Amino acid sequence: MNPTTQVRPLDVPQAILQRRSIKTFKTDPIAPELLKQLVDLTVAAPSSFNIQDWQIILIQDEAQKAALAAAAWNQQQIIQAPVTFVFAADPHAGEQDLTPIYEQAITTGAWNEGTVNYFKNAIPQFQSVLGDKRREYAIKDAVIAATHLVLAAESLGLSTCFMNGWIEEQVKQVIGAADPDLAIALLVPVGYAAEPRLNPGRLPLSHKVSVDKIGQPYQG
Ligand SMILES: Cc1cc2nc3c(=O)[nH]c(=O)nc-3n(C[C@H](O)[C@H](O)[C@H](O)COP(=O)(O)O)c2cc1C
Repeated sequence: MNPTTQVRPLDVPQAILQRRSIKTFKTDPIAPELLKQLVDLTVAAPSSFNIQDWQIILIQDEAQKAALAAAAWNQQQIIQAPVTFVFAADPHAGEQDLTPIYEQAITTGAWNEGTVNYFKNAIPQFQSVLGDKRREYAIKDAVIAATHLVLAAESLGLSTCFMNGWIEEQVKQVIGAADPDLAIALLVPVGYAAEPRLNPGRLPLSHKVSVDKIGQPYQG
């Protein structure tokens, strides 16, 4: 069955407003086609120079879930949810062979030879200028991908929780990360909510949004 026929997807504003960080999940599985749709929508996220500097690991195996939960202060969402996405950020992704992207972009007409040559020069240049900031930049891209996942999941009838509460070295051990420079950006359990949660609210816009300069509050 096509998962999109099971629920009418929410539009983006509805998904944004309805999303809550869910703390308890049913153990109900996610249909494989729906999970594939979520993965496709996640990696549709943009990234700096389109280098897609994330590694996404789907934790589904019960023993892996238990190990991941142990690395995340025993947060039970990881045990309950049928899948947890681990978003790892690869500071060396700029050095990977991007030929498949160049070929795709030429085939679709999105980029011409000039654009491809620009990227071939600019990516290593930018990476060397970034230096130690490569980790931070990779994390930015991974978090943008995680945000795509969270909103897509909400739109398609699922729930999520962004999670920052874990010990990086332990998470890396669970996913079998060999590269010492690989960073963990976020964990996101995905599944069906066991209980709804209310919106805890946000600070007034005037506290958090300025016009032109900080301290000139946006009045809405
Ligand atoms: C980056 C990030 C990390 C978070 N880490 C956790 C976490 O480890 N465990 C948890 O239960 N909730 C976590 N949360 C959920 C927040 O507590 C929640 O987003 C906040 O209370 C606002 O609630 P709402 O998401 O329902 O609007 C995290 C949220 C974000 C954005």
